[in-house]
Amino acid sequence: MKNILVLGAAGQIGSELVPYLRNIYGNHAVVAAYRSTPLPEAIMESGPCENMDALEAAKLHEIVKKHKIDSIINLVAVLSAKGEGNPPLAWKINMESQLNALEVMREVKGAVFTPSSIGAFGPTTPMDNTPQDTLMRPSTVYGISKVAAELLADYYHLKFGVDARGVRYPGIISNVTLPGGGTTDYAVEIYYEAIKSKSYTCNLGAGTFLDMMYMPDALRACVEIMEADPSKLIHRNCFNVTAMSFDPEMISAEIKKHIPEFRMEYKVDPIKQAIANSWPNSMDQTSAQQEWNWKPEYNLKSMTEDMLKVLAKKL
Ligand code: SER
Repeated sequence: MKNILVLGAAGQIGSELVPYLRNIYGNHAVVAAYRSTPLPEAIMESGPCENMDALEAAKLHEIVKKHKIDSIINLVAVLSAKGEGNPPLAWKINMESQLNALEVMREVKGAVFTPSSIGAFGPTTPMDNTPQDTLMRPSTVYGISKVAAELLADYYHLKFGVDARGVRYPGIISNVTLPGGGTTDYAVEIYYEAIKSKSYTCNLGAGTFLDMMYMPDALRACVEIMEADPSKLIHRNCFNVTAMSFDPEMISAEIKKHIPEFRMEYKVDPIKQAIANSWPNSMDQTSAQQEWNWKPEYNLKSMTEDMLKVLAKKL
């Protein structure tokens, strides 16, 4: 990647990926694109930014030309739980942003990274050690759009030579920008509430195991897959990646090691619970390990230490 356009730069991943990329590729090589949510000041001040809508193809073409973009990181998405509230909107945003990114990179023979998700799997997928290549019949509009986006990315690679690559992220835990409308959001909120009120009401039930990853690993995975030697890639869109699998009881127990007064109770949200039940308990990431040497660094223990330290200062 040389000149990178990050779509959805104000979101949970984008707000941390832009500074991470600017550090590696140079401030002027990374354009942060946002629509309604304002960008953090540090991003506004450290490099180029564009206020635009990823669904407007003509504007996207113009910005790609203006900044000589060769790589698009497409982080625009309506997440799983929010998508269930407005399926047509989730479909439109998730699919049109992907189509536009692939189309514009077709013209310049560029690269596209679009994250897929554990949400691309469904109730008929094997739940444990979920294989890289398996049955994918998701039961959310978010998941359906993610499978379609994976297929579209492979199609643009095959037919038009677009260097499309991606990973299936698990739930991502971070401390800069809150996620919005995801099923795995509880695993972020619980740390904020542990610091603020020493208690948390969890909307997923005990025993709900899901794959998770700490943001530093997620950022590194994005760059590592995009910079991987293409001759070694058997898969492209998208690789299973994970760092840990836990249920609410385990994260709560880990927090209690630092905050013994911490208390968690349950008030299960049936929509989120049904979504979580349809997703893997833990994914097999052998293909990512073998094809581009992927290895996560953080586990539940080291992530919890860092999250609580950072949030105690921030809050
Ligand atoms: N974190 C996302 C969600 O819960 C999963 O990709 O929707």
